[in-house]
Amino acid sequence: MEKRATQILEEEHHLIQQVVGAMAALADRVFEGQVAEKETLVNLVDFMRVFVEKCHHEKEENHLFPLLVKKGVPVAGCPIGMLTREHQAAGKLTTDLGAAVEAYLKEPSGMGHFLVTTLRGVVALYPGHIWRENYLLFPMTDKILDDREQEGLVEQFETVERKIGLDVHQRFEHLAEKAG
Ligand SMILES: [Fe+2]
Repeated sequence: MEKRATQILEEEHHLIQQVVGAMAALADRVFEGQVAEKETLVNLVDFMRVFVEKCHHEKEENHLFPLLVKKGVPVAGCPIGMLTREHQAAGKLTTDLGAAVEAYLKEPSGMGHFLVTTLRGVVALYPGHIWRENYLLFPMTDKILDDREQEGLVEQFETVERKIGLDVHQRFEHLAEKAG
């Protein structure tokens, strides 16, 4: 097996952390009165909508979590219930970020506060969420799933990748490197 499913998700967390770090720095700059570039903002919304929601969360929520539940992990409570709620909060923040960016691009002077608050909302959620997945969920998953089950997940992840487009994943890797 080339890579375990959990290793793939952990590598994606690394990209998310890089972009979230860039969001924290951007929020500080806008808070201090600097103007954020349109291209940067549009890329950040795109990263959240496509990479985080359609690629990463889809792999976890539609493939990993259901398999773990099938293997006997409780659907409610810690860790799956909690992580699912955090994904829902992230989804709402992504919608808010889209709205905040749209409003800010129309009216940078009046909407800076909305943009800063939303960016900081994402920054507040992710490090803890990723920590819980890297140090609780994935070690637990590696104990529960055998090689064949991990391979099955990797195949399902490839279907998700093909749906969003392999070039899209690569584009986001470059974007995260640039942002980080
Ligand atoms: Fe994750």
